[in-house]
Amino acid sequence: MMYRTQKLLIVCLLITAPVSVFAGNANNGSMIFQEKCAACHGKNGTAVLPGTPHFSKGERMEKPDNSLSSSINNGLNAMPPFKGSLSDAQLGDLLAYIRTLKK
Ligand code: HEC
Repeated sequence: MMYRTQKLLIVCLLITAPVSVFAGNANNGSMIFQEKCAACHGKNGTAVLPGTPHFSKGERMEKPDNSLSSSINNGLNAMPPFKGSLSDAQLGDLLAYIRTLKK
């Protein structure tokens, strides 16, 4: 016999679990960013390579996630394509992270 609060708890877990999967983990994104992106975008999102947007100033952050992920996957001008070297989950983690960089 289950108590009503236990049932409620299970329902809450079922509702929140998928959301957190899709939301992206910014801490994990930070590690991938330092490894694969910081050479051009800078450790804290202040770009090192000329012509690279400053995420620290919120540049390009007005674009929706699907547009940014397509640029990361397919490359954009001087940025190489990352398709195949990043999983969808890693891409989501990266987007969650770069959206925290605006100061
Ligand atoms: C070799 C340098 C370089 C690396 C490495 C690099 N980028 Fe970029 N990135 C750029 C440049 C340059 C642009 C601007 C391209 C343009 O608009 O002409 C850019 C643009 C972007 C944009 C904006 C795209 C848009 O649609 O406006 C995002 C988001 C981005 N990079 C994320 C990343 C992520 C995440 C990584 C690591 C997985 C990464 N970049 C690695 C150079 C780089």
